[in-house]
Amino acid sequence: MARDLTQLELLTELEPVAEQNVNRHLSLAKEWHPHDYVPWDEGRNFAALGGQDWDPDQSKLSEVAKAAMITNLLTEDNLPSYHREIAENFSQDGAWGTWVGRWTAEENRHGIVMRDYLVVTRGVDPVALEQARMVHMTNGFASPAEVDAGFLHSVAYVTFQELATRVSHRNTGKVCDDVIADRMLQRIAADENLHMIFYRNMCGAALDLCPDQALEAIALIVENFQMPGAGMPNFRRNGVLMAKHGIYDLRQHLEEVVQPVLKKWDVFGRTDFTARGEQTRERLADFLDKLSKDVEKFEEQRDRMLAREAAKREKAFATVSG
Ligand SMILES: [Fe+2]
Ligand SMILES: [Fe+2]
Repeated sequence: MARDLTQLELLTELEPVAEQNVNRHLSLAKEWHPHDYVPWDEGRNFAALGGQDWDPDQSKLSEVAKAAMITNLLTEDNLPSYHREIAENFSQDGAWGTWVGRWTAEENRHGIVMRDYLVVTRGVDPVALEQARMVHMTNGFASPAEVDAGFLHSVAYVTFQELATRVSHRNTGKVCDDVIADRMLQRIAADENLHMIFYRNMCGAALDLCPDQALEAIALIVENFQMPGAGMPNFRRNGVLMAKHGIYDLRQHLEEVVQPVLKKWDVFGRTDFTARGEQTRERLADFLDKLSKDVEKFEEQRDRMLAREAAKREKAFATVSG
């Protein structure tokens, strides 16, 4: 049986592909400025400077939009953790180093623009937001225990994660019911898409280089995938709200994130696996089968829950107007 490639061998072998993809990224990435996406004329001072502190009535965002904005922003805020993960598993040299720096700088822009927007428009409580950021960043992000650190795991994880955040930002824009927020989140989502393509190409090249070894990492990531928000304050509540209202739910995870990427890598069509890879592929296929059954179950539960809530609202409305 062929031995696994070491971290160093992977990085050395894939460096030319990294260089091509950094260049590709730089030629496609558009320069944009956070200040262009924030309605500054809606801003005013808070009490410390003689104005008025935040009050829930000031927010024009629905509960769902608030939950989604906070979750997405805290995820962006946690960048130092993600930077650490990527920087530890990529090299600091050559194209790898250029990528890590550039990617980190682009991600930072996302947190900047979302926070400016939320504070200026008073969309969420800035004190609660700051407290949540402190908790979330102090906890940091760690890969699930089952998932070994390493280049292949990192690159597989971020491929799915970038695409997941793209979907989530895009759909958050739609529920904000504000053209400015929607434009901002579309702009961020376009960045996430380019990030996803970089990582997807790197992981695809790794699959070509060492199919069995790369597929093992990919399968482990798919089987243990957690949205990056896991561990932030109110993540369960906010995650449930987001899933319930189609911002990021299990069907989107399966059909808009996992399946298209696996298809792009031709995981179920390729013929370069040995018996070891075949075994992993079968396990992955079983997992995806189970996931699609879970999607059905989740949607049935969600439909029942939404119907119950609608009935409750109707009853309350009848009581008030009766
Ligand atoms: Fe981002
Ligand atoms: Fe990104």
